[in-house]
Amino acid sequence: AKPVIVAIDGPSGTGKSSTSKAVAAQLGLSYLDTGAQYRAITWWMVTNGIDIEDPSAIAAVAGKPEIVSGTDPGNPTINVDGTDVSGPIRTQEVTSKVSAVSAVPEVRARITELQRSLAASAEVGMVVEGRDIGTTVLPDADLKIFLTASPEARAARRSGELKGADVNATREALIKRDAADSSRKTSPLAKADDAVEVDTTELTLPQVIECVVTLVEEKR
Ligand code: C5P
Repeated sequence: AKPVIVAIDGPSGTGKSSTSKAVAAQLGLSYLDTGAQYRAITWWMVTNGIDIEDPSAIAAVAGKPEIVSGTDPGNPTINVDGTDVSGPIRTQEVTSKVSAVSAVPEVRARITELQRSLAASAEVGMVVEGRDIGTTVLPDADLKIFLTASPEARAARRSGELKGADVNATREALIKRDAADSSRKTSPLAKADDAVEVDTTELTLPQVIECVVTLVEEKR
């Protein structure tokens, strides 16, 4: 059988990561968290004192960090210049700056190339999660899913993950990041015309996983 490529896009807090990892594990596919790659390059920019407000400063060094993603859904690793940054890329500082960094075309070109080469090397197939996978990175994916959920559900899930975070503050930050991601010029967050939209507001995680697994199996 030929490798199956599944693109899962959508805003934050829709259960994208949990769903993508579980589907990949269940079907024996590789997994790629493209948000982690954008977080990793943002972490590198912050660590190296690059001015996040200055797109040309970001563009000038976009090619410098070496970013390596592990694609095992049971242990998705992310390294920058040989350092494991799985923890540091989840801080509030990186989260608040990632939209500005990922809006820079040179950053997107660089990371998109990495993503395409990883997807091309997946032997059984890969679940790739992000914002622009179905529209830009892998327009020929075998299956495209677009996950949505109400802002309330998304904020509640995110504050649950962040343990004790204020729901209102989380909601505001989420809405701001989605607005920035959706309105940028280069490959904004968007549903591909041929994507299947799944509204997860009223669904449990196991229900979303089952729904996506069924859709993948129909393609195999
Ligand atoms: O998925 P996650 O919340 O970790 O993504 C972090 C950020 O990375 C997003 O808010 C967005 O700015 C950027 N991103 C992107 N394109 C992708 C995946 C993530 O621009 N394919």
